[in-house]
Amino acid sequence: MPLNIFKLAVLVSGRGSNLQAIIDSIDQEELDAHLSIVISNTKDAMALKRAEKHGIKTIFIDPSTYLNSKEYDKALVLKLKEFSIDLICLAGYMRVLGEEVIQTFEKKIINIHPSLLPAFPGLNAQKQAINHGVKFSGCTVHFVDSGVDSGPIILQTVVPVYDSDDEKSLSKRILEQEHYLYPKAIKMIQENKIRLNGRTVTSKII
Ligand code: GAR
Repeated sequence: MPLNIFKLAVLVSGRGSNLQAIIDSIDQEELDAHLSIVISNTKDAMALKRAEKHGIKTIFIDPSTYLNSKEYDKALVLKLKEFSIDLICLAGYMRVLGEEVIQTFEKKIINIHPSLLPAFPGLNAQKQAINHGVKFSGCTVHFVDSGVDSGPIILQTVVPVYDSDDEKSLSKRILEQEHYLYPKAIKMIQENKIRLNGRTVTSKII
């Protein structure tokens, strides 16, 4: 592995299809990065199996063995430091990161969310969109700050919402776009094509 390779950590909780998209784009040499570690807060996450299949190191950090979220986050920070991570990608990671993690890795944590933020943050974003009756939704890659899905927006893709849609069909249409958008955002950061100024992210199109 080249010494200056861009090192990623991916944090997961479940299915791991976005993790798979990142793995695939590295495998296909679209993304020049090394996926150093996949960390899960759930033991049986399918994401862990996907990573293991590709020979990627995985760690399950068990929340039940820590007194509280603060202690959990301390363990998480230690692990991430151990691997000298350049960028932390949340991919369906269903824990809110505490201040210690956010501050230690300032501007180095990104997340993908299945709505056009700031609309419909939090859980069940696709259901929120259907219930609200919007005609367009989509997905957002953003820097992570201490709020829920509230950090500076890096990239977004718009997805139409049809009259016939339910949560499942909309989720599927959005997820297909997530799999393009997330590796693209990571690539832009890795290639130093992203500038963050306050809440505003500017980028050179690639
Ligand atoms: C994705 O749709 C992702 O956008 C969403 O969870 C799903 C994870 O799927 N994340 C959030 O809602 C974060 N607020 P995956 O495990 O197959 O990548």
